[in-house]
Formats: sequence, C-alpha cells, structure tokens
Amino acid sequence: MTTPLTQLIYCSELATPAPSPRAVDQLLERCRARNAAAGITGVLVVDGVHVLQVLEGPRDALTELFVRISTDARHRNVQLISVSDLDVRSFPDWALGYLPQTASLGAVLRTYLGCRDFDPAVVPASRLRAMVPHLLAPNEPAA
Ligand SMILES: Cc1cc2nc3c(=O)[nH]c(=O)nc-3n(C[C@H](O)[C@H](O)[C@H](O)COP(=O)(O)O)c2cc1C
Repeated sequence: MTTPLTQLIYCSELATPAPSPRAVDQLLERCRARNAAAGITGVLVVDGVHVLQVLEGPRDALTELFVRISTDARHRNVQLISVSDLDVRSFPDWALGYLPQTASLGAVLRTYLGCRDFDPAVVPASRLRAMVPHLLAPNEPAA
C-alpha cells in the first residue's frame, strides 16, 4: 500500500549564488529522472540565492528525498517549512518545474509574500502554502 499523498515545502540558500545554466540543467535533469521514478512532482523556485522547493508525492518517498536534499552541499540553511496531507497534486505534470527569477514570478512572490525581497525563510508557512497554486502560471497577472 502506498503512503498518503503529501506536500513538503522547504527553503534554503544556494552555496554558490547564480549557478551557471549548465549546472542548473544538470541538476534538473537528474532530479526529474529520480522524481519521476519515485512518483514525486514539484517545483523549484530560485531567485539567484534563495531556494523554495515544493515537493509532492507518497510520504515515504518524500521523506527519503528530503533527507538526501537536506544534506546536499550545493545549498545550506535548509529549513523545513511545511508537511501536509494533499488531496490533489498542484503540479501533476511537473517532475520538477523550474521557476527562475522573472518579472512575472516576482509579481506573484510580492503579492503572496508581501515583501519585495524573496526570502522564504522569514515567511509564515500558511502564506507560502497559499502561494503554491499560483506558481503554476506565473505569467498570469497576480490577483
Ligand atoms: C536545491 C536542490 C534541489 C534538489 N531537488 C531534488 C529533487 O527534487 N529530486 C532529487 O532526486 N534530487 C534533488 N536534489 C539532489 C539531491 O540532493 C541528491 O543530490 C540527489 O537526489 C542524488 O542523491 P545521491 O547522490 O545520494 O544519490 C536537489 C538538490 C538541491 C541542491
């Protein structure tokens, strides 16, 4: 029997700010293959330094993945923000969507975080959870 569908949100800071597109592509390619095999979907938001990642999937697979991620030397100050039950996946088609810093994403972040700078570490979990559905279409005007 599979464990309950769960959403996990964490934030961190890149060890090397503004990684090269090649380094990002390599990370994403490997993550997407592993996530797909484990039934995990999600999104990675990176603004140059700050990282916000939303991961959704079976609770046991998510736990195993988060243990690996939390000890990865490519980032630091990893903070677990939220773990909650989930009825429906937020990003069913994304093994790992990638949202780099853009003006439209900036507008979504400002609307939901209520601040100019993207620093998820200081934002309450409830606000970040409310923002998650809006990450799917950052090109839509923020409500
Ligand atoms: C910001 C960040 C996000 C990551 N996201 C994922 C992910 O979604 N899925 C994944 O399998 N690995 C992810 N990783 C990589 C893992 O930390 C780990 O390197 C990878 O799963 C391979 O683990 P292994 O080398 O122990 O086999 C991420 C790493 C970083 C720095």
